[in-house]
Amino acid sequence: MKIAFITPEAYPFVKTGGLADVSYSLPRALARKGHDVLLVLPRYYRVDKQKFSLKLIPGPLGVPLGTGEKWAGIYRSQYLPDVSAIFIEHDNYFGRDGLYDDGYQAYGDNGERFAFFCRASLQALVTLGFKPDIIHCNDWQTALVPVYLRIHYANEPFFRNAASVMTVHNVGYQGVFPAEMMECAMIGREHFHPGELEFFGQMNFLKGGIVFADAVTTVSRRYAREIQTPEFGYDLAGVFASLGGRLYGITNGVDYEKWDPQNDPRIPANFSAKKLAGKKTCKQHLQSRFGMEESDKLPVIGTISRLTYQKGIDVLAESLFILMKEKACQFVIVGSGDAHIMWRFEELKRTYPGRVGIFWGYDEELAHLVESGSDIYAMPSRYEPCGLNQMYSLRYGAVPVVRATGGLDDTIVDWFADHEKGTGFKFHELSAGILAETFVRVFDVYRDAQEWKKIVRRGMEVYYSWDESAAEYELMYEKLRGGRA
Ligand code: ADP
Ligand code: GLC
Repeated sequence: MKIAFITPEAYPFVKTGGLADVSYSLPRALARKGHDVLLVLPRYYRVDKQKFSLKLIPGPLGVPLGTGEKWAGIYRSQYLPDVSAIFIEHDNYFGRDGLYDDGYQAYGDNGERFAFFCRASLQALVTLGFKPDIIHCNDWQTALVPVYLRIHYANEPFFRNAASVMTVHNVGYQGVFPAEMMECAMIGREHFHPGELEFFGQMNFLKGGIVFADAVTTVSRRYAREIQTPEFGYDLAGVFASLGGRLYGITNGVDYEKWDPQNDPRIPANFSAKKLAGKKTCKQHLQSRFGMEESDKLPVIGTISRLTYQKGIDVLAESLFILMKEKACQFVIVGSGDAHIMWRFEELKRTYPGRVGIFWGYDEELAHLVESGSDIYAMPSRYEPCGLNQMYSLRYGAVPVVRATGGLDDTIVDWFADHEKGTGFKFHELSAGILAETFVRVFDVYRDAQEWKKIVRRGMEVYYSWDESAAEYELMYEKLRGGRA
């Protein structure tokens, strides 16, 4: 099959979160199965032309938008051996430092920027003669693609065989803009009603993608169920519920080429379930890197996260104030985001000097060090569509303590409920007191070195293969093609 994989970010070109990891791994897993996959991305200023050998494809790309036409360029990169990537360049829209915001606030023209990207992506496929069987879109930034496909390209023979898939990685971000965005995006007002793009008087990109796509997927089974309820659906629960068999939950996998302590070049010492010794060295390095006491006995809790409401990191901070007063332990965080959350951790560090390690910013090396050196990995999310770090943590022997929600619930087996199969620890209600209590119970298990090793080893042997997830996508693609034929 020919698959156009349209996404606002993909590792290694440009990444802010898990979507970039998925947009790297899934296309490659599909390519391994023999499909011809083309990645389509914006050429943000951050995408390094030299490093990724971006080559300009001759000729301008015309993109209808607003009242006229915008002119763009297409770059191609063959940096990934198995998947070619194209980048849509438009200086005015993407030649700036951030992807979606300036570090404080979302860009005011995000609606226009990504409507442009959606339209440009389809135009680029035509220009390049890449006739897709499947157009796979990811998150609100790409959600107008299925809409355009149906309203502007329905009679184009070029797209006759193309089915569209809308993957929702996070319902918390929908791309909601004033109603006038309809004109800018060149979508007629006949589509501005509650059954299509209208959403409480505004235009909702994600809703459009969901309504117009041939199939909608999200990134875990539990989250697929959750988003049909008011608590998790962010006002789209009814729309999700109405999809019936068109809604799929397919859990993400892990790229073990990049996330395996056995051959990870980024960590101080390699280790595996059979040879755990290296983990001690990693723990020492982590403690020394963050200026903490180098003690093998003290449990280290680690986390790597965007600091947002979704992640429950604010509650984690409060729980650590309670926990650290009572129990000897250390804590390390690598993250970026909400300043209020950062201040709370700074306060924690001042209260417990030498026991708290902080790095504010984005750092891949440190992310690997935290996974390898921590005993426990904390992920207390309010909601979590899938979550990748808890799966990385399993492999790195950093036993996950997670809230039982979304993909966290699907991918971790709770030791409290099953001592024979447990790979981590779960709690349900999100409060600082309950989280602190959970850590205390986890520390009791940690002190039983034999039992702890069993849990660590069991987790390290879990295998979340992308090949299996890709096979589920493949099945769904086949079904859509069958439907078209
Ligand atoms: P989300 O996409 O919601 O942020 P995921 O768990 O799916 O959550 O994926 C997060 C990805 O981003 C992981 O690969 C994680 O290691 C990475 N990440 C998040 N914050 C940072 C950071 N500050 N530095 C390095 N990597 C980070
Ligand atoms: C989103 C979700 C996260 C998921 C990732 C990749 O960022 O918040 O849970 O793992 O997308 O699908």
